[in-house]
Amino acid sequence: MRIGGYLCSFICLTLLYACQENAVIIFPDYFPQQNRIYLDSVRIETIQLGEKLFFDPRLSSNNKISCASCHLPDLAFTDGKKISQGIDGRFSKHNSSTLLNLGFLNSFMFDKGSHNIEIQPILPLLDTNEMNTSFIELEEKFKDDKIYQSLSHKTYGRPLNRRTITWALAAYMKSLTASTSLYDSFLTTNDSSMLSPLEKRGMRLFYGKGKCNQCHTSPLFTDSKHHNLGLEDSITGRIGVYANTLIPLDRGRFKTPSLRNIEITHPYFHDGRIADLKEAIRYHQSPERATYDFIPVNLSEKEIIDLHQFLKTLTDAKFKN
Ligand code: HEC
Ligand code: HEC
Repeated sequence: MRIGGYLCSFICLTLLYACQENAVIIFPDYFPQQNRIYLDSVRIETIQLGEKLFFDPRLSSNNKISCASCHLPDLAFTDGKKISQGIDGRFSKHNSSTLLNLGFLNSFMFDKGSHNIEIQPILPLLDTNEMNTSFIELEEKFKDDKIYQSLSHKTYGRPLNRRTITWALAAYMKSLTASTSLYDSFLTTNDSSMLSPLEKRGMRLFYGKGKCNQCHTSPLFTDSKHHNLGLEDSITGRIGVYANTLIPLDRGRFKTPSLRNIEITHPYFHDGRIADLKEAIRYHQSPERATYDFIPVNLSEKEIIDLHQFLKTLTDAKFKN
């Protein structure tokens, strides 16, 4: 047993180091490390297949809507609309989410629609308002596509099918790491002269009086959990996690969005109701938003300006035009 145990840890460690050396997904040491073993094993060919699929409108029933129609690279993988629109202009349920740093999270969608990034792509593909397709349709459409079939064989040793499509899309999304903002330079060097006095004041508020870090937890700026900020709208049926769990306390709970690249990902909130970032902070923290889940802090106008300034240091220029 003991020797088996030693042997096993030896093999695991060797694998870990072998993987890390060839890792194609690069991220800083201060990012959560628990998924490293999965991220290090993602191969470049798989990402290439996933990237091609992501931008291919043939993944929808009318060949007009790709994942990138609602997740534009230039907008940090959001779409700038209040509510996204899929096939024939039909409306999605929510505002489009950024897809950056998802390889480190374990809960997806505002209403907790998915816990697994390898399975999540099924939702938009089959959603009749988004891509409105089926896997039978996709397998048939691509069965003679030489490029896809060869990429799928190369990376998975099998033809393009429902599994390889979703796995490859997940691999591409995992490769989208945002970790080269001004704030990251500050974290890496610990040199506070990089930040202006306003940005530093905003940072102190973010971690201190504002309590923003409780839910928008650094370094990903989301806790991947769901909270009720008094934003539910029962008229439009956007009622949060309750839609999936039917647990009464989950009414009005929505996933905490990441604040990385927040400067670019407007409009804000699950229904895109607010266009301006300062307004989103002000609105979010106004006293009437108090619920059993959330106690807003009274912020002065000056504090909102400081926080806004700090949030702008979270922009990674790679995902901006
Ligand atoms: C018609 C627009 C549309 C299309 C097409 C679309 N998405 Fe989305 N996507 C959205 C919206 C809107 C959300 C937020 C929805 C929600 O949380 O309920 C979202 C959320 C996501 C999330 C969850 C992010 C998070 O942080 O929780 C992932 C992952 C995702 N999309 C991947 C994809 C992939 C992969 C494709 C292509 C197979 C795709 N999307 C196609 C609109 C779209
Ligand atoms: C109790 C948890 C919690 C705290 C504390 C919190 N937030 Fe939020 N925040 C959320 C949730 C949840 C949402 C999404 C709500 C929705 O769309 O319905 C959100 C949304 C936002 C948005 C809009 C993001 C987007 O992409 O739509 C901004 C900006 C924001 N918060 C900034 C802040 C700031 C700044 C602070 C501190 C002053 C703060 N938040 C404190 C949970 C929290």
